[in-house]
Formats: sequence, C-alpha cells, structure tokens
Amino acid sequence: MSEKKIWWRDAVIYQVYPRSFKDSNGDGEGDLGGVIAGIPYLADLGVDAIWLSPFYKSPNKDGGYDVSDPRDVDPRFGTLDEAKKLIDTAHAHGIKFIADIVPNHFSTEHAWFKAALASPKGSPERARFHFYDGRGPNGDTPPNNWISIFRGPSWTRVTEPDGSAGQWYLHLFDSSQPDLNWANPDVEEDFEKTLRFWLDLGADGFRIDVAHGCVKDKIDVDHRDPNRLIDALRLDFLDITTEERAGLLSDVPFFDREGVHDIYRKWRKIFDSYSGDRMSVAEAFVYPSSRAARYVRSDELHQVFNFNFMMLGWDAKIMSESIKTTLEELKDVKAPATWVLNNHDTPRVVTRIGSPRKARALAQLIHSLPGGVYIYQGEELGLPSADLPDAARQDPAFIRSGGSDKGRDECRVPLPWDSTQPHYGYGTGTPWLPQPADWAQYCMNVEAADPASSLNFYKQMLQLRRGNASLGGEGAITWIDSEPEVMHFTREPGLEVVVNTSSVEKSVKVSGKKILLASHEGTNATDGVLQLPADTTVWLER
Ligand code: GLC
Repeated sequence: MSEKKIWWRDAVIYQVYPRSFKDSNGDGEGDLGGVIAGIPYLADLGVDAIWLSPFYKSPNKDGGYDVSDPRDVDPRFGTLDEAKKLIDTAHAHGIKFIADIVPNHFSTEHAWFKAALASPKGSPERARFHFYDGRGPNGDTPPNNWISIFRGPSWTRVTEPDGSAGQWYLHLFDSSQPDLNWANPDVEEDFEKTLRFWLDLGADGFRIDVAHGCVKDKIDVDHRDPNRLIDALRLDFLDITTEERAGLLSDVPFFDREGVHDIYRKWRKIFDSYSGDRMSVAEAFVYPSSRAARYVRSDELHQVFNFNFMMLGWDAKIMSESIKTTLEELKDVKAPATWVLNNHDTPRVVTRIGSPRKARALAQLIHSLPGGVYIYQGEELGLPSADLPDAARQDPAFIRSGGSDKGRDECRVPLPWDSTQPHYGYGTGTPWLPQPADWAQYCMNVEAADPASSLNFYKQMLQLRRGNASLGGEGAITWIDSEPEVMHFTREPGLEVVVNTSSVEKSVKVSGKKILLASHEGTNATDGVLQLPADTTVWLER
C-alpha cells in the first residue's frame, strides 16, 4: 500500500506579496480584503497553497519585513478577523495557507525595542537585541566593521535615556530592523508564541525569513573585507570570480552558524505537535549550496528555497547539472527539492533571462521536476519587471545604497487585473508604485480571453501536473544523452521531457508519442522524432 501523500512535498505554492496583489479599500495599497477577493482566481489557476509575505503590524520601512507586532495585522492590510477569514476562504477553496515569519529582527517600533531604548545598558530589555558599546575613547566607532545587506553600516548608535550618546545596536538590514539575540530565552519563547498563534488560527506552514541569519558569531572581530562580502552575498552580483565568492562566503560571521539548527529542531517539534502536516520553508542563502540540505534534515525544516537554480541562465547543460546537484544534495536527508524562478526580492524571470518565450519554457521545465514549485504573483501573467522612475522607489536597498542599487521595487508593482478598470482593476486609489502604461496586455481579463496567453498556459500546465503522477512527485529522473543545448529526461511512470535552449530548431529522438504540452507552437513528434523549435519545452506521454 502506498504511503499517504504529504501535500507539501510536491505542492505548487503561489507567493502573494499582499501590498501589491489587490487593493480592496482604495488606499492604493493591497490588503487582506484584496487577497480574499483573489482566492477564486487562484483556485481557478490551480495552485495548492499560497504563501503571504508579511501583513503584520509594521511601520513598513522594508515592505512589512520590519515587524512591530507579529501576532496582529497592520491596519493598512486589515484586521485579524480578515486574516482568519482569508485562511478559511483559502481552505474552503482547497488552498493551504503559509504565513511568513521573520525571526532575525523586529522593527524599531516593536514594544521590546522601545523598552530597550528606555532601559539602561546591561538591562534585560537590551539583552534581547545586540547592544554593544562602541569602540574608541568616546565609543563613537561601531563595535565592528560589518556592512548592512542594504549597504551602509550595520550598527546604529542610540541616545541614552539621559540624552547622552550611547550604545550601538546591530542590524543586518535597515536601521529600522534591529537584530534579535537568539541566545536570549525571551526571544525563543516569543517566537514559539507566534508560531502557535498562527498555527492555531489555521496556518498550514511558514516561510522563514533569513532563516540562516539568526545566530551571530565573532561580533568582536572586524571582517577582513565587509564591503566585498556584501557584494558576494548578492545573488545578482556577477562582477566577482567563483574563487573570490567562495573565499568570502565560506565563513560569514552572521550567516549559517551552527546554532541556527537548534532553533529549527525546536520549531519542528512544535509543527509536528499539530495535525495536518504543517510545513516550513527556509529562506537560507548558504554557501556552498550543499549546506542548504542541513536545514531540511528530518528533525528540522521541510523545504529550502533552491536559490542556486533560480539564478542560472537559460542553458540546458548548466541547468541539468544544477538539477542533478540539487537532487543529489537532498538525497541523504530525503527532503524534496524546490524550484523557484523569482520572488519579491529578485528581478522577474522574464526580465532576468531576457525573453517571455524562454521564461515560459523554463517554467514548464521546473514543473516537470521532482519536488515543489513556487510561483511569484504575476509570473503566471508573464509580467516583466517594471521600469520605475527613481522618485517612485521605496526600497531601503535603494535608499541606503544612495541609488547605486536600484532595489527591488521593480518586481513589486501592483498586479494588473482588469484592462477596463482604472489602475488595471488593482484598486480605485493611486497604486503605491506606478504601473507601466503598457500593462493592459497583461491584465487577467485580457489573458483569460486569449488561448495562447501566459495565464492560460500556466493554468493548463498546473491542471496537467495535478492529474499526472510523473509531474512533480518524488520519482527519479532518468537522463538521456543529448547534444549540449538540449535537455532530455524521462520520469516514471510515463513522462518524457525535452528542452531546447538553443536559438535553432532541433530534431530529437523520443520514445513518447503523444505531446501533452509544449511551451510553444511548431512542435511535432512523428515516427519517434521530435521537431523542437528554439527555446521550447515539451512534455510527451510515454
Ligand atoms: C528577506 C526578505 C526581504 C527582506 C529581508 C529582511 O530576504 O525576503 O524582502 O528585505 O529578508 O527581512
């Protein structure tokens, strides 16, 4: 008898960035009411689950990843009752709900941080964060030379309650995001409360923000090259050799420390104490990639985002090597792989690989691999990153870098729903980021009416995946030798996949006869030979 299928192991999970999904109250910012209204659309698209980026109380200096109360909803997103209604509505449509949890830092507006500022040096209130004295005779040099991921120093000096210049606190991200001290038991206890709060409300899982960052090491030591380290940490920073990147990333004092695993072992016990296969997925950018598997050992988390694959170009040889490596690295821990093409922190896949055609073929490839898939809102519409005037940008990465880093706003522009409505039906108020003038073509109503649209392609792909044990699942891949620009494999029980990443048509010998899905027209299989146009993926039934 086969084991019970565990839903998350090969789920299609759709990321909602709620601020940009749909605005139900006309204030120009998306909200929970908008997500509730969008559930039928997502059910129709055919996703198994939604993951919502944070909608908790927050001054919103970093798109809600600066949380001031993790157990309440920010009024700009709605109310706790609406969160409950959203979870129930998703469930009623057969969609699981995954919340985002941000354990590395709070907002400076969190009651704990305010209390820390009002309390003296050495107090229990300060011990929940990383407060240190500065260096130099007046303490006006930061405790170490680390640079924030968003650039600029990773330390900010506070003014003591008596008005004097005081201690410094650590923030790996914006100065509004003070890092929590996980060596302090209050922190552990509070996060347990938060996990239970959302689990009790019905959440089916968590995406764990900066999962590799919670524990810090060597705070009393300067880094040998802190600026270059931040360059090396940027997934899209290419002006660096593999050797230099490896040298810098093999020992980052604030990432991937052994102690983080103790946290997740405790969390796993909490997840397992609930019924219904609750799950977690780690945002852990670690080096080398093999270390990611350590986050998904059987007594830790469930999935880890596969960022290495996400950053690859459209190249059959490089992608197949990466797929093999991913599956090999996860084999021992028996965790399923994940495949993701973009998210709210990266350029949209169409823009990153430079063509909607390639993006569609790439999407079809990842949907045929073993494990789970993540789709970022708007990806199904084939949305490109948007051009934005600098004046519109709000990302702290843009602000703190003085504009040298354009930031992540370009992939966060509010979604186009309906070409007949103002603001493409996103809402009645002026959207918080301007939508490009040529986005009518991407509106859901326009794409829904066009059989050849990206939306209809995604729908068809998800529908086929749902009903076919060879797509997703956990079965092995059998690779078939092919020329360098072609990827060719089979999956049990009955699928054959061929991908052409070159710019010319290829003829490929195949055993499958019936074409189940092709990312583009012009494909045909006769007498065991497949004619495959440039930049196309095909599924054949064997
Ligand atoms: C993660 C989030 C990103 C955020 C950062 C700090 O990388 O995905 O959006 O800025 O953490 O919380």
